[in-house]
Amino acid sequence: MERIYSLIPDGKIVADIGTDHGQLAVALAERQKAKKIIATDISASSLQKLILRIQGTPLEKRIKTFVTDGLEGLGKEGIQVAVIAGMGGVLIGKILEKAGTIPNLESLVLCPHVGVEELRPKLTDLGFAVKKEDFVEEEGKLYPLLFASKGEEAYTTFGEKKFGHYMPEHPNEAFQKFVYKEKKTRQKLLQNNSKLPEKRRDELKRELIEIGKVEKTIETHRNL
Ligand SMILES: C[S@@+](CC[C@H](N)C(=O)[O-])C[C@H]1O[C@@H](n2cnc3c(N)ncnc32)[C@H](O)[C@@H]1O
Repeated sequence: MERIYSLIPDGKIVADIGTDHGQLAVALAERQKAKKIIATDISASSLQKLILRIQGTPLEKRIKTFVTDGLEGLGKEGIQVAVIAGMGGVLIGKILEKAGTIPNLESLVLCPHVGVEELRPKLTDLGFAVKKEDFVEEEGKLYPLLFASKGEEAYTTFGEKKFGHYMPEHPNEAFQKFVYKEKKTRQKLLQNNSKLPEKRRDELKRELIEIGKVEKTIETHRNL
């Protein structure tokens, strides 16, 4: 949560989409980082956890809550930063696509738990470019963190979509573990699954070549 928090610019109108227990929204309110905080969830019972947490406290006035799908119905809130964490990359992409143009929206802070390779090209399609990136390990799980704002960016290869442009040249420990895990998964699939269709085997082999290139980039930059 702290690493997501640190990617959020100060003094903005921030929406935490899919807030659940509202840990991030509460931190934003307690530390007075945002001008206004909107916390949403598609599930009323999930959002209820946050509502109960802030009820009767000074935070109640600082966090506006909505049960809604993604950014639906939030057009009038003047959202400048949308945070979407803890969902798959495909779902995050769908939420953003469905939202269309949000007049004041400047930036996105995204933490897809899976499917970052599907999210990156979607961001490009929607006119966003990843400007900052980080990688975190939490309870043994590895997550990318993306900060995106309006701009152009192209992803062509599997390696670019999966690992992005920034982290291979600025590798931290979590990112290196992620690359290693992706390599091992594919090696095991190839070794232990003789019934895999030839097409899939070829694809996995191509992906392994690209992972090898990312490893070389990491190696070069780790020693700088
Ligand atoms: C795993 S929790 C993540 C909570 C928090 N954002 C975090 O990173 O710790 C995912 C939350 O997203 C909510 N969610 C799923 N689809 C959604 C959608 N389309 N719009 C809003 N919230 C959604 C779920 O109800 C759930 O509370």
